[in-house]
Amino acid sequence: MDTTSQPDTGADDAPDTTTNSTVTCTHAPGSADGGAPGQWSTPAAASRQVMRTVFTDIYRNNTWGGLHSVSGPGSELAQTDRIIRALPALFRRFNIRSMLDIPCGDFHWMQWVDLAGVDYIGADIVPEIIDHNRTDRATRNVRFESLDLLHDPLPAVDLILCRDCLVHFDFDAIAHTLDNIRASGSRYLLTTTFTGDRTNSDISTGGWRPLALESPPFRWPPPLQIIQEGCHEKGGAYADKALALWRIEDIETAQPQRIDRGFDVADLVPRCRRR
Ligand SMILES: C[S@@+](CC[C@H](N)C(=O)[O-])C[C@H]1O[C@@H](n2cnc3c(N)ncnc32)[C@H](O)[C@@H]1O
Repeated sequence: MDTTSQPDTGADDAPDTTTNSTVTCTHAPGSADGGAPGQWSTPAAASRQVMRTVFTDIYRNNTWGGLHSVSGPGSELAQTDRIIRALPALFRRFNIRSMLDIPCGDFHWMQWVDLAGVDYIGADIVPEIIDHNRTDRATRNVRFESLDLLHDPLPAVDLILCRDCLVHFDFDAIAHTLDNIRASGSRYLLTTTFTGDRTNSDISTGGWRPLALESPPFRWPPPLQIIQEGCHEKGGAYADKALALWRIEDIETAQPQRIDRGFDVADLVPRCRRR
């Protein structure tokens, strides 16, 4: 495993209507560690419609409270300077020529990443974000699509970047997501994980908690590369926050199944083939 801590070295098909919702969101790192309440609680992965409604509401109300980014404090430049500088080296090392950044949010920090030589697709479930990004951020090699990570077919790319997203999903939604990512035929997944000694807890989708993807019930294999983000939110409580890279074929997931809260989720959620 190569740890890059210094960047310079290194469904359902519900009707597609978007409405304001009255739900509230608790988002961390601003919310309680290990099981923040979410907007809804379902035994199965949330529907496309519910997800879109909730995250549109968050976007419109800037519920996560970012000063410069509606994607939240974790997407401010102060929290992303390391990954901005580290990503180009990762692209070169793993020969990344095409990438899907899902969710891309408002592209606030990603606009500063050197994407020369990379065909970039940014995607999000909130159409308003995508409309805004298309108007302000699209370039010759940068385009934006409205896609749902759980329910839409994803393009086959060299790299799927999924930052600060699975931390908002319940275990069942994570399992659906991984199955959808595997179905895309893409090569690598770069996603948020926490590298400290943490216990994973289930939440309702829409809440937040740190996820340690190498720990039970996920037990993903050691990543190919880790970029420590240097997160200093909450007085360093999440200093182990990282982006980690896996070859997608190395991550096995269970078939999507309904999870009721009394079930042993360890029997259902992602399992890994260890190399
Ligand atoms: C905390 S933001 C992170 C955005 C970006 N990755 C970043 O690092 O700035 C989470 C984003 O996930 C999006 N999202 C939530 N569920 C989604 C889904 N099922 N498909 C695609 N995007 C989703 C939200 O709209 C929101 O923009």
